[in-house]
Amino acid sequence: MSGHLPVLVEEVLRWLRPRPGETVLDGTVGLGGHAARILDALRPDGHYIGLDLDPEMLAAAQRRLADVSEGLRCDLRNSSYADFPAVLDDLGVDQVDVMLLDLGINSAQLDDAARGFAFDRDGPLDMRFDQRQRRSALDLVNQLDEAELADLIYQFGQDGQSRRIAREICRARRDRRITTTRELASIVARALDAGGRTNPATRVFQALRIAVNHELENLATFLEQAPRYLRAGGRIGIIAFHSLEDGQVKRAFREGRRAGTYRELTRRPVGPEAAEQRGNPRARSAKLRVAERLPAAS
Ligand SMILES: C[S@@+](CC[C@H](N)C(=O)[O-])C[C@H]1O[C@@H](n2cnc3c(N)ncnc32)[C@H](O)[C@@H]1O
Repeated sequence: MSGHLPVLVEEVLRWLRPRPGETVLDGTVGLGGHAARILDALRPDGHYIGLDLDPEMLAAAQRRLADVSEGLRCDLRNSSYADFPAVLDDLGVDQVDVMLLDLGINSAQLDDAARGFAFDRDGPLDMRFDQRQRRSALDLVNQLDEAELADLIYQFGQDGQSRRIAREICRARRDRRITTTRELASIVARALDAGGRTNPATRVFQALRIAVNHELENLATFLEQAPRYLRAGGRIGIIAFHSLEDGQVKRAFREGRRAGTYRELTRRPVGPEAAEQRGNPRARSAKLRVAERLPAAS
């Protein structure tokens, strides 16, 4: 699990400027890569609050952060970032100075075949960040009707061949349930002509992961609530990996500008430097947008 490199970490520190004494809400603590650097910036008396839906990630983050967090207030909670107000309430925190989301999946989750996130590793069709959740990818793939599957692949995978893929999935499952990532990947490959730059399964797996975990709804809920819990002068930064997420962030910040709640600090989304792109393939599509909370008009 130590192989995970946090993306845009210098940019996150530069734009979000966590400072000693401040309170930071990190909605996606993951393996604690950003957290370690943020905690360092909060020394000697800040408060770091880290959330993750995946208890395995939290346990790994806890181990990683044990030393760096010494002497600081560091609260790690197994919660969705969409539910952050309840966590703040529980901790007796009214507002925070910095909010960060680093969306999507991390390398430890992708590398673990048993989680079913990767099309190039054989594992069960799962894809849940939160194992307590009822519906997994297995249920969606085997239960949705052809039109629903096609819509899901089109909407969340932005795949123009969604109807062909949905048809092939439905044809295959007439014989027996589709239960593994490899089976699904080969059905997708069968549905499409060979060729193309990216493996067609990439988009189908992205679509299923977004749907299984309600990723766009969670982001919308977070964005809607954030201004109320961000102190005036506080900074909010979101790292997105595809245009569905990035578009949502862009719209929320733009509407915030119009409503007088936000000033956008990044005019354009910030991407990785060439060196980071070379060293960390996951960083290639990362886009960071940052806004500052304006004081409420009196
Ligand atoms: C890209 S990783 C974060 C990596 C982290 N910034 C680091 O430096 O290690 C995204 C994390 O968000 C978690 N996650 C996904 N959806 C979530 C949600 N709704 N609420 C909280 N955590 C979520 C995943 O389990 C994953 O660990």
